[in-house]
Amino acid sequence: MGLWFYICFSCSVAIQCLETVFKIRSEDVQLAAPYTLEEVFSQAHLQKDDITPAESPSSAPAAMEKAEQLKDEGNNYMKEQRYEAALDCYSQAVELDPNNAVYFCNRAAAHSQLGRHHDAITDCEKAISIDAKYSKAYGRMGRALAAMSKYKEAIGSFQKALDLDPENESYKSYLKISEQKVRQVPSPTSAGWGFDMASLMNNPAFVSMAAGLMQDPQVQQL
Ligand SMILES: *[C@@H]1O[C@H](CO)[C@@H](O)[C@H](O)[C@H]1NC(C)=O
Repeated sequence: MGLWFYICFSCSVAIQCLETVFKIRSEDVQLAAPYTLEEVFSQAHLQKDDITPAESPSSAPAAMEKAEQLKDEGNNYMKEQRYEAALDCYSQAVELDPNNAVYFCNRAAAHSQLGRHHDAITDCEKAISIDAKYSKAYGRMGRALAAMSKYKEAIGSFQKALDLDPENESYKSYLKISEQKVRQVPSPTSAGWGFDMASLMNNPAFVSMAAGLMQDPQVQQL
């Protein structure tokens, strides 16, 4: 009984929908098409390509062209160090064409210049989700992470950038700098001891004492 009601209800809703969409009534028998369903579908399929741009305005050629213009405008603002204006242009470009990784990556650069490293990282992640082989987005994310003193994560980003663009000298030097920073920054445990573990490990007297201790059978028992 319930199922029967459901089917009937669905049918009447479906009929209503069809009537509304096609502005017809089920009484309009003279509209009964002299085509089979298959013919109707193949016809619809042929027309699909023609109507696609009109149906998705965000990927319409005009919108994409406008987005490119906004990107160029943004790039010019970046050169003039007008970062807020550049950011605004890139944001508009992103609105018009949200599938272009370059717009997100460029906006990340503007965020970075404005000190908004967190926003820069979010935009880099977005760019990478669109184009996983976009080395520049990894490089930029690495720099934002480094600016936030997140050197370990930065190393991962720079390595990824270098994987994709192995010749890039900038990535090599950024990677090296982050690796040095990781070594310099006291680890949480050594910071707790109130002395610089890294410089202690560079002290020859300490190192030889430690080496001697390691040889000590009693210490080895510990
Ligand atoms: C290396 O990467 C940086 C940042 O993405 C870019 O500005 C530079 O042009 C690249 N250099 C080479 C040699 O490709």
